[in-house]
Amino acid sequence: MPTPAELLRAARAAQEHAYAPYSNFPVGAALLAKSGEVFAGANVENASYPVSMCAERAALSAAVSRGHRSFETLAIVGPPGAAISPCGSCRQALAEFGEDLRIVREGREDVLLRELLPDAFHLERTGV
Ligand code: THU
Repeated sequence: MPTPAELLRAARAAQEHAYAPYSNFPVGAALLAKSGEVFAGANVENASYPVSMCAERAALSAAVSRGHRSFETLAIVGPPGAAISPCGSCRQALAEFGEDLRIVREGREDVLLRELLPDAFHLERTGV
């Protein structure tokens, strides 16, 4: 299994491909699946700003599109010196696949997704 340091390096490599001409805030993410495979993503912005995609959801889409639904760890990096933590939309998107996901950020304590998004919304299908 890749170490947290290796995942941060994978996130840093993905950040190289970020397309962030509007914010100038490139982000990279590396998501470790329970299989041991790593799926990376970078933010992809758009002239129509709300269309932009965060690095975390890019990584999640890459993984789910290849058949992965169980994840161990997500590493994310922002510009050097910038604090980075998954945005609210990404927390919700990630929670869909499990709240025990470990979030790794440079120079900060690891946290579990359930700590970043307590009482996450899940759709209960109760015979409706
Ligand atoms: N961004 C991410 O990719 N992930 C986050 O967790 C926070 C923000 C991106 C979105 C946008 O392209 C840029 O960072 C500035 O908000």
